Amino acid sequence: AGTPLLETCNNGGAGFELEEKEHNIKQSDFPPGFLFGAATSAYQVEGAYLADGKSLSNWDVFCHSVGCGENGENGDIADDHYHLFLKDIEIIHSLGLKAYRFSISWARILPRGRFGEVNPAGIIFYNKIIDNLILKGIEPFVTLFHDDYPQELEERYGAWLNPQIQEDFVHLAETCFNYFGDRVKYWITINEPRLFTEFAYETGIFPPSRCSEPFGKCVNGNSDVEPLIVMHNLLLAHGRAAKLYHEIFQPKHNGLIGIVAHCDMFEPLTDSELDREAANRAFAFNVGWVLDPSIFGDYPEEMHEYLGSELPVFSLEEKNLMKNSIDFIGINHYSTVYTKDCMNSSCSPTGGRAIKGFVDTVGECDGILIGERTGLEGIYVVPRGMEEIVDLIKIRYTNKPMFITENGYSSPNVHEEGVNAILNDMKRVDFHSNYLASLLASIRRGADVRGYFVWSLMDSYEWLVGYSLRYGLYYVDRQTYKRIPKLSAIWYKNFLTNNTVVI
Ligand code: NOJ
Repeated sequence: AGTPLLETCNNGGAGFELEEKEHNIKQSDFPPGFLFGAATSAYQVEGAYLADGKSLSNWDVFCHSVGCGENGENGDIADDHYHLFLKDIEIIHSLGLKAYRFSISWARILPRGRFGEVNPAGIIFYNKIIDNLILKGIEPFVTLFHDDYPQELEERYGAWLNPQIQEDFVHLAETCFNYFGDRVKYWITINEPRLFTEFAYETGIFPPSRCSEPFGKCVNGNSDVEPLIVMHNLLLAHGRAAKLYHEIFQPKHNGLIGIVAHCDMFEPLTDSELDREAANRAFAFNVGWVLDPSIFGDYPEEMHEYLGSELPVFSLEEKNLMKNSIDFIGINHYSTVYTKDCMNSSCSPTGGRAIKGFVDTVGECDGILIGERTGLEGIYVVPRGMEEIVDLIKIRYTNKPMFITENGYSSPNVHEEGVNAILNDMKRVDFHSNYLASLLASIRRGADVRGYFVWSLMDSYEWLVGYSLRYGLYYVDRQTYKRIPKLSAIWYKNFLTNNTVVI
């Protein structure tokens, strides 16, 4: 008597097996032409923050004024990739990677946005990267916006809060398509618009630090409204750049353009109907917020239903612009969490209304963790989440081509590990093998996934945390900037070159 029905922990995932997969996958299990790669982003690796005509970006200014990492760390030098890129391309080649994903520093190419000239040194720098990658048979995947933009755009008109940013973004895109489009066949307009929106305009922990309830470094904002406006501008900026690509550049160069969404997997906390609906809502508010407009031309129904007139409206013309604006979906997948309904149940939603869809997200049920913790709070190791999220995206978006544009592991023991422990990263090897095995299961069920990028090629500046939180296949010595392969680099190389796994 008294046993609650259907309210028990749902700790088996959506019908998938709980136990971890063994390391028995081979590269040749993946479809022919499947691209294995690694990813980085400009602010996190380049450094040289004022070299050769680059202007200050939002992150340069933010880090210099308020500090943005443990011990005042910032991206001024980062991994000095600006000077060491040839060595890095050597590394990429030596691992046997077939693709490398990197981002353009907007302030290096267009230091004053559309209010000034193109910076020739910026063009030369990225030309050298692209040419050297291609020389070695490595496919460049180029992200146009990965969190950093010229500070001047912030000061002139409030950057992403103002529709003017769309014009600036299209100018950036056109400049890059013009200079690099003959050789770059994979373009990504924007990286993780939802997380950018959340961190910069809802919790305010990223520049321009806007939120309505001042805590930490926030300054005036309106956390209910601004994330919605900013996302609208991000999406329209994406849509306009993609239209330009599709109309003018794709016919000449035959490349593809996509957007990258942060795609956590949301599993219902319990078997109750309400928690199941909460998980669906979380998917719509997180993944659908970005992908529905980019494919169907409008926000998810769930967002219309719950946000009503607060949700910005796409005009008919804009809907047409947005519809099918991507050729592929970029999936950044790091974690799986449980979702609990907060609409009809008493709990407080994690994050604001616009962001999480009136749900609480948690990492444990009845004291049992959903998966091992990682170095970032709220991120858990749950390999089955990979196949679950890919299956969901496959179904909702009728199997549009997908790339896993990021998947990576950071250790929770950031302050305890010595160099040897960092290099001996068996947990990262396990992580990638298990996640790849899960991805393979989904591919075998028919998901059209065409590539997989490890985040990250090397340890780099992690937003707000600094250099102690590590995702790299390579360790970077902070004094000499020497790159040292970790066990995971050796594992990846074996996986890619020998087709066998020797670990
Ligand atoms: C996704 C972001 O794109 C990347 O910049 C970040 O370093 C990783 N997540 C890890 O937090």
